[in-house]
Amino acid sequence: MTVRYAAPGRVNLIGEHTDYNLGFALPIALPQRTVVTFTPDGGDTITVGSLRADGAVRFPLATAPGQVTDWAAYVAGVVWALRQAGHPVPGGAMSITSDVEMGSGLSSSAALQCAVLGAIASAAGVEMDRIEQARLAQRAENEYVGAPTGLLDQLASLFGQPSNALLIDFRDLTVAPVTFDPDGHGVVLLLIDSRAPHRHVGGEYAARRASCERAAAALGASSLRDVWDRGRAELDAIHNPIDARRARHVLNENGRVLDFVAAIGDSDFVEAGRILTASHVSMRDDFDITTEHIDLIADTAVRAGAFGARMTGGGFGGCVIALVPDTRADAVAQTLRRTLLSAGHPRPVVTRTRAAAGAGPG
Ligand code: GLA
Repeated sequence: MTVRYAAPGRVNLIGEHTDYNLGFALPIALPQRTVVTFTPDGGDTITVGSLRADGAVRFPLATAPGQVTDWAAYVAGVVWALRQAGHPVPGGAMSITSDVEMGSGLSSSAALQCAVLGAIASAAGVEMDRIEQARLAQRAENEYVGAPTGLLDQLASLFGQPSNALLIDFRDLTVAPVTFDPDGHGVVLLLIDSRAPHRHVGGEYAARRASCERAAAALGASSLRDVWDRGRAELDAIHNPIDARRARHVLNENGRVLDFVAAIGDSDFVEAGRILTASHVSMRDDFDITTEHIDLIADTAVRAGAFGARMTGGGFGGCVIALVPDTRADAVAQTLRRTLLSAGHPRPVVTRTRAAAGAGPG
């Protein structure tokens, strides 16, 4: 019997590089989805084809890290993680379609993983709660693909709800929907794709993570969340100045997530925008994960009339989001295209977006 399962990409509204520090973040699921069609055949291999790739990839169910690379590693990684956890995985043929832009920092990889996981679990009749699904997908990404990422992307893709953002507490692993419907208040969430690709498998993400772990250890804490909970920054006690700046970003960013939730709860989009911009500045100056190109996009959006703007996702490229009064949205988009082109950058792709549903039968 053929099954279909779909999972969306995500935009993180705020709370960047907080997930592996057991802090807070506030993502939404995007309307763009990856759809997996799976037909089990009783064999002991999986063949997977994607409209985006030339030729299908075939691997044994008993696959191990290192065997499959590139995009199909996310598929094989999910198979590996499911089997490691003792779940049955049927062999068969899989095909993938997606309108989640790849390499734009919109979590095309989490969308792929969550759709594959849902399709296999449905075909095998396995019931798994969504937190467990997120953990399995994370394990696949960490140990099979080799990217030391946190749980943000998978939780966003699995738990998304229309008109809601998700307040995630990564220590307790709780996900609370928070109404996020700026359109209802004449405000638009603009998604600005820089067209500068980004990747996590590279060393910068891992370096940031190591810096945060060193900073927590220097303060005798098991995570920067514990430092935040103590209610004081204690950053002076971190002797490595770079680690101290990285930790300052994480501690301040946790506070900004909660402040942003309060602002949107009051429908105060001016304040919400101010907090977005403060997050961008912190990623630029303390966490060092933006680029001049991305800074130009965020600055231009604000100068052109956005309430605020920030890079979203892991960093070093990808997308910027901006909260903009509806009446200014077209002008902001035009100014962005003009300014970026005249500075010698690719023409950014500017779209209006909104919170959409999470993974489910497609
Ligand atoms: C990437 C990772 C996430 C998270 C973000 C930064 O998207 O996959 O786990 O760390 O970067 O917030």
